[in-house]
This record gives sequence, C-alpha cells and structure tokens, in this order.
Amino acid sequence: MLENLKKRWKVDTLSMVLIICTFALGGSLCGYLGRKLLVWSGLEKGTVWVIVYIILISLLWPLCVLLISIPLGQFRFFRSYLVKIGKRFWGKRAPSTINVAIFASGAGSNALKIIEKFHNNASIRINLIVCNKDGAGVLEIARKAQIPALFIEKERFFRGDAYLPALKEQGIDFIVLAGFLWKVPASLVQAYAGKIVNIHPALLPKYGGKGMYGDRVHEAVIAAGEKESGITIHWVDEQYDHGSTIFQAKCAVDPLETPQTLAKKIHELEHLHFPEIVEGCILKMQNRS
Ligand code: GRF
Repeated sequence: MLENLKKRWKVDTLSMVLIICTFALGGSLCGYLGRKLLVWSGLEKGTVWVIVYIILISLLWPLCVLLISIPLGQFRFFRSYLVKIGKRFWGKRAPSTINVAIFASGAGSNALKIIEKFHNNASIRINLIVCNKDGAGVLEIARKAQIPALFIEKERFFRGDAYLPALKEQGIDFIVLAGFLWKVPASLVQAYAGKIVNIHPALLPKYGGKGMYGDRVHEAVIAAGEKESGITIHWVDEQYDHGSTIFQAKCAVDPLETPQTLAKKIHELEHLHFPEIVEGCILKMQNRS
C-alpha cells in the first residue's frame, strides 16, 4: 500500500514518511483546535455541536496541515495537494503534478534557471537531477536546491536498464537535457517519446552531432566565418542533436568574436528562453494527455 501511495504521490520514502506525519499531526492539531473553539463558544453538546464541529474541522484542516508541513519540509506537496482537492471540490479537474528530471554534465547554469523558474510552481516540479560527471557544478546546485541527484554510470546507462526503473520510481514525467553530453539510449527515448527536450548552443542543423559541445561548437562557428549563431531547443530522438526543432534564437557573431565571448552571448540567450520553452512543452504535453 505504501509503495502504491509513493507512486501515486510521486515521492521518495523519506518524503512519504514526512507526509504521513504531517497528515497525523495536522489532523490532531485540527481536532484539538476545533474542540477548544467549541468549548470557548459555550455551545451545549448535541446535534448543533456536532454540525458546528464538522464545519470547523473542515475549515481548520487545510490550515493545520499546511502549517505542520512547513517545519517538516512538505509545504510544496501539501500546497499542490490542497489545490487539487479544492479544484475537485469546485468541480474542475486538477492537472496532476508533472515531475521533471534535468540531465546535466556541467556547470548547470541552465539547470539553475529552470529550477528557479519552477520553484513555486504547484503543477511542475523539478524533482531529480541526473548527472554523469563527478564534481560537476550542477551537483552543487542540486544540493543547494535540495533536489535529489542521481549519479549515472556509462555501463548501466548504455548497456543496462538506462536507469529507467530509477526514473519511474521517482515518477518522472518529463526530461530536460541541459548540457548533458551523453547520447540518450533508444530505450529511454522510446519510454519518454515526445517528452525529452535538449538545448544546443548553435543553430541546428549546423554545428551539431557527436563531439560538438561547449567551446568546440563556438570555435567551429567562428572558423566558418558565420555572421550569426544562436540556440536551438529541440525534441530528442535517437541521434545526436537531431530531433525536430521547437525554438531557435539568434545572436550576431562579431568580427573580433572569440569562443568565450560567443559562449557568453549564447548562455544569455539560453537563460532567457530555455525555462519558458520547457514550460510551454510541458503544458502542451499535459493538454495532450
Ligand atoms: C549550454 O551551452 C547548452 O547549450 C549545452 O551545454 C551548455 C550547458 O551549460 N548543451 P550549463 O551547464 O547549463 O551552464
């Protein structure tokens, strides 16, 4: 039963325990306050007492669980839980929370922008950082944001289960590749068909493919004498930098441009657009289902 609840709520074991504690403590606090208020009102025990008590409890319960969820670190869960109940109560179907994993191998500046964008979002939650590089900056970002990190190894990723069970266990619905250097195995692409996006620091289809990452891309753009470069956000398929384009933005390549100055311009474009495009893709996916 606990396993079922974990899957349904898309949480790990520790969060599950804290959520149950919040329910228990919130419920007790609510019952206690309800009775105190009734004693204070001086109402005689009887039918009216019971009706008023039920009304009081219904009003106090959401406040009490929200209050208790704060010290137990479960505020985000309960806020979206109550929003769902509220919407169900008022007859509207609440979209369920979309859990997002960010795959990154590097500094993680894009991951950070995306985490910040969805920080207070009740329906889109960044709940896993997947990384293949020891000491990558993105791991520190995950630690500070208190998002679990999954460290992946080549052998299992390419020749094993591609970490699919681990992603399913975390209830991951959508994947964002933000500076992830490995090719995504076919089994993962198929399991998340139409649910994986990548960002590339050039205007695809040019300057993409195996080995084209970081400064190598900018060096190639400058060496070719391009007048402009930019970013491409695209769906991920089984080939490097190949799936259909979702969005592109351009910047000028100046005569004295260096790979470093171009990288800076590109990062600015990425930070400006990527979080919003990711949100748009997730909302479209939600509307499809
Ligand atoms: C970005 O330029 C992105 O386009 C590329 O890798 C870089 C990652 O940068 N795929 P950061 O780690 O997000 O700072």
